[in-house]
Amino acid sequence: MTTQTTPVTVIGLGLMGQALARVLLNEGHTTTIWNRSAHKADALVSQGARRAATATEAVAASPLVLICVSDYAAVRETLDPARHALTGKVLVNLTSGSPAQARETAAWAARLGATYIDGAIMAVPQMMGQPGTRVLYSGSPEAYRTYESTLLALAGASAHVGDDPGLAALYDMGLLTMMYTLYGGFLHALALVGTAKIDGVTFMKLGLPWLADVASWLPGFAHDIDTRTYATDVSALAINQPAVTLIIEASKAEGVRGDVLAPMQALLDRRVAQGHAADGLPSLIELVKKPETAAISA
Ligand SMILES: NC(=O)c1ccc[n+]([C@@H]2O[C@H](COP(=O)([O-])OP(=O)(O)OC[C@H]3O[C@@H](n4cnc5c(N)ncnc54)[C@H](OP(=O)(O)O)[C@@H]3O)[C@@H](O)[C@H]2O)c1
Repeated sequence: MTTQTTPVTVIGLGLMGQALARVLLNEGHTTTIWNRSAHKADALVSQGARRAATATEAVAASPLVLICVSDYAAVRETLDPARHALTGKVLVNLTSGSPAQARETAAWAARLGATYIDGAIMAVPQMMGQPGTRVLYSGSPEAYRTYESTLLALAGASAHVGDDPGLAALYDMGLLTMMYTLYGGFLHALALVGTAKIDGVTFMKLGLPWLADVASWLPGFAHDIDTRTYATDVSALAINQPAVTLIIEASKAEGVRGDVLAPMQALLDRRVAQGHAADGLPSLIELVKKPETAAISA
């Protein structure tokens, strides 16, 4: 690992990039910054950051270069003119994107002689620099080890999830999928109990411990999916299918839309129609996963 005084460059000073640069400055790193709109560097410069005149100058200033801009098109638009300065650098791209974009950018960096790490920030700017904050990294394990202490200063609960540069984005999308579907169910639940004038805060006094119980079953479900063991002595699709249909119909009767639950109802209907009524809920994965590997194709 490097010492805490590693010179670091931060390119992109939006809300997240500014937070990253601020943490690095507070940690005592020599921090060089650049942003397309130069005025966003002003406050950081007054706190001790070094302003680069161009992206090329910023890349050249440090062995470790972080970039955090809106999207991958902006990454390339920014770094293409600076590509010759990237040779020999470790590029850590903290811009949100897809696994394919991360792999393509890693290949592009490798052609330039740069080492690439992709990062998925699982936090908001205000959480950067804290011990419980997570950034998921993938790509060069050697470069990650070299700069681990600097990267952990940015987010103390960070982890390297694999050598394939696409994995950080893949994990990110998996985690966010769980988050968004959970939020969808939460919204439906509040709309439903709201029909009886039960406020959300009151409902969540029961809702939160219930969710914790339900979430605790997921590692067991994951094991069933990993081993394709779908027999159950707990709760069969035959019971869950009418339960979901009942919730949707009862919700509609109260004037609440059934949109959030409709995809789950469709999966249950289809899997039961395929003859799997006695399976447990993990059996639905066969309808969700990549068709080439599915036991029963769509
Ligand atoms: N904010 C969050 O809570 C959060 C959480 C997790 C991940 N992220 C990810 O972090 C990244 C940055 O987010 P942010 O919140 O910092 O966004 P932001 O405040 O909107 O800042 C966007 C940054 O991208 C730069 N940019 C956009 N297009 C560019 C281009 N064509 N060329 C050069 N620079 C360009 C902007 O430069 P200008 O100042 O010149 O416009 C600015 O520095 C995104 O990928 C986001 O998904 C953000």
